[in-house]
Amino acid sequence: MKDETFYVTTPIYYVNDKAHIGHAYTTILADVLTRFHRMLGASTHFLTGTDEHGQKVEKAAQAAGMTPQEQADSTVVRFQELWKKLEITNDDFIRTTEPRHKLVVQKILQDLYDRGEIYRDEYDGWYCTPCERFFTEKDLQDGCCPECRREVEQIREANYFFRMSRRQDWLVKYIEDHPDFIQPSFRRNETLGFLRKPLNDLCISRPKKRLNWGIELPFDTDFVTYVWFDALVNYISAIGYLADEDQFTRWWPANYHLIGKDILTTHTVYWPTMLHAMGLPMPKTIFAHGWWLLGDSKMSKSIGNVVNPMEMADRYGVDAFRYFVMTEMSLGQDANFSEEAFMRRFNSDLANDLGNLLSRVLKMAHSYCGGVVPEAGAMDGPEEQELLSCVHQAASGMEEALDRMKIDQGVTGVLTAVRAVNRYLEQKQPWTLAKQEDKGPLHTTLYAALESLRVTAGLLQPVMPGKMQAIRLALGLDDGMPTFAELKEWGLLQAGTMLRKVPVLFPRIQKEEPPVILEKAGQVAKKNEGKKASSAAETPLGVITYDEFMKVQLRTACVTAAERVDGTDKLLKLQVDVGGIPRQLVAGIAQQYAPEQLLGKQIVIVANLKPAVIRGIESNGMLLAANDADGLKLITVDGAATSGVPVR
Ligand code: ME8
Ligand code: MG
Repeated sequence: MKDETFYVTTPIYYVNDKAHIGHAYTTILADVLTRFHRMLGASTHFLTGTDEHGQKVEKAAQAAGMTPQEQADSTVVRFQELWKKLEITNDDFIRTTEPRHKLVVQKILQDLYDRGEIYRDEYDGWYCTPCERFFTEKDLQDGCCPECRREVEQIREANYFFRMSRRQDWLVKYIEDHPDFIQPSFRRNETLGFLRKPLNDLCISRPKKRLNWGIELPFDTDFVTYVWFDALVNYISAIGYLADEDQFTRWWPANYHLIGKDILTTHTVYWPTMLHAMGLPMPKTIFAHGWWLLGDSKMSKSIGNVVNPMEMADRYGVDAFRYFVMTEMSLGQDANFSEEAFMRRFNSDLANDLGNLLSRVLKMAHSYCGGVVPEAGAMDGPEEQELLSCVHQAASGMEEALDRMKIDQGVTGVLTAVRAVNRYLEQKQPWTLAKQEDKGPLHTTLYAALESLRVTAGLLQPVMPGKMQAIRLALGLDDGMPTFAELKEWGLLQAGTMLRKVPVLFPRIQKEEPPVILEKAGQVAKKNEGKKASSAAETPLGVITYDEFMKVQLRTACVTAAERVDGTDKLLKLQVDVGGIPRQLVAGIAQQYAPEQLLGKQIVIVANLKPAVIRGIESNGMLLAANDADGLKLITVDGAATSGVPVR
């Protein structure tokens, strides 16, 4: 029996833009995990929400001509609609702008301040806006943010600090003593590695003159709280910390904080030290999964190479989408998203192995057994024994996979059992058995197949709730959820139960179907749209389609800094601003342009070029220039264009 209660959280997502499949992934993972634990009999609490304060949101609001609250209000609905569409069964949704959250953050701040855990000091350091984090000079890598490699800004000001450094030794020991605290173990080692350097105190305030959009410090109204100090508290404010003691003690400590590896440090260093200062127990496990990549780069809103989960679900169905993301990514590792892989997996696992099995078995039961579950004889033949052991293995494997957070392996194990049922039918050939006088072997075979479907569909129900429910109904079962105990038992389908007909569960995706679904600058680009019309024969060599051209994201960018690269007379290192997001490029224009000539110029860059390292310097994109006989001439934008806008 599992823990009686199971509390799981996702990160709360920034409302500076809408969700992409990275966000959908963590949320689906939390949902699948919760549904499994419900099947195991735990009472579960699943929290997700949105992170609505901070500079990112303020900037996005400015760019959209809205107040930050309006920006948050309009974006939060898109997250909520997406979760509804994806059949996410969260119990609560927290927004950090809600009074229930803000009050708790302020109470915590006041208490820590009163106890001397927070103090005021002059600060001198470097700030990375995209990460919303401060770094000291020695944290920087090649002068850039050590986390995202983007440009940082130097900052000197008075601020408030949380005494994080004094908890370093405690934290190291805690992590060492609790192997499950940070998972997978290579992430645990990463955090321990990070903690080998001395830990600084954490700057937890922002002066209002620089950032207005945050929770006011209760002891100094010239400041707001640093967004991470605010955001992390959601995990306890949502369940009633300092407000509803009963509810809080029922759920805390959380069983899992699910996060992406991008926010490992904030969750495994900041958050535990904050909790420790508050005198609260630690969450049981912080689990950091890998990244969805597109090509070789992280799918990310600031790069603009994102896949829209709403479109995927519309096109292929919610269940297939959930199945794909759960199986394609091996938990903890990075995975590549490609629509070809999606179609391959869909056609082989879902259309072929599972979907066909269901239609075949139902069809035979209708033709040979009058559409009811037949009465089985003994399951003691070698084929039956093997089938039973495969099906049993799928159930126990799934339970083990849950314990070890290897859900993808658990699901793959179920598909192995599904294939074993198909193999069993090939061996037994019920269509031949049907011709025999003695119907015993036929009935046993069909019963075994139907019962295997009950178990395997039940095991897949948390991943594909809609379609697996359809299988349950086809088998004449009620529309409730199975329990895990039922799935470990054999022989629960009752002979004589009426089977129902169902439409084809997963119709094969035909090759010609146009693959999706890259979001660009607010518009959906369908990668191969119009492909049918332009076969190779009709397209002259060297001509590309509109959609091929649209894969190249050209953006305006404003040069904010430029310098020569040591050891070469060709290269310049440029810092550019792309719609409020800084980037670094290395360009071979030093023979034609002096660094100072470039400052303030609006240029055009290829924004989705794979990052490259040139002479040890990371280059994120390429600028456009005409290659004239007497040298390169920069392509610039006429008039006062904003940076970051698409060029087409
Ligand atoms: O970081 N692959 O919010 P965020 C996999 N507000 N997962 C991805 C992903 C990708 N390419 N991109 C995003 C924040 N994610 C803070 C969190 S929590 C107290 C505050 C998922 O909108 C993954 O879970 O940038 C990642 O950690 C999260 O979205 C970051 O979402
Ligand atoms: Mg992020």
